[in-house]
Amino acid sequence: MKQTISFILNDRKITLDVAPQEILLDVLRYRLGVKSPKCGCDRGDCGTCTVMLNGKTVRSCMVLAVEADKQRVTTLEGLMKDGQLTLLQQAFLENNSFQCGFCAPGMILAATELLEKHPHPDLAQIKEALSGNLCRCTGYQPIIDAIAGCTKKRNP
Ligand code: FES
Ligand code: FES
Repeated sequence: MKQTISFILNDRKITLDVAPQEILLDVLRYRLGVKSPKCGCDRGDCGTCTVMLNGKTVRSCMVLAVEADKQRVTTLEGLMKDGQLTLLQQAFLENNSFQCGFCAPGMILAATELLEKHPHPDLAQIKEALSGNLCRCTGYQPIIDAIAGCTKKRNP
């Protein structure tokens, strides 16, 4: 039997009926048209489906849609403020931290969470924060450079 859930998605209130087994990733992509979280493995291994649930990163392929009820969901699309990229997003652009870009939304959300917790992360902390996000193009160095550079810009 379907259940009505409501949640805040990137500052927009969403109300919809979901089946008990519906996965948050599928609801976001296929019912709400939010394309940044992607299905890379569908079993919690790769991080391409990363979103934030109440400010903490989760793998949306492993989260039931009903778990989002009355919660706050943030995707890459919700990071910009007043049409402006965040410093971190700008740093990814400036460092060419994308090859195919498939991993980028998850990487940026993981790094956003890191910088909120640790505004001055060292290399080990950056690597640890990214460790659950796989880049199939193995473009890790420019991603690390973007995060490290952003840290310097925030704290010259
Ligand atoms: S698709 Fe969710 S972790 Fe890979
Ligand atoms: S840039 Fe292609 S998967 Fe990371």
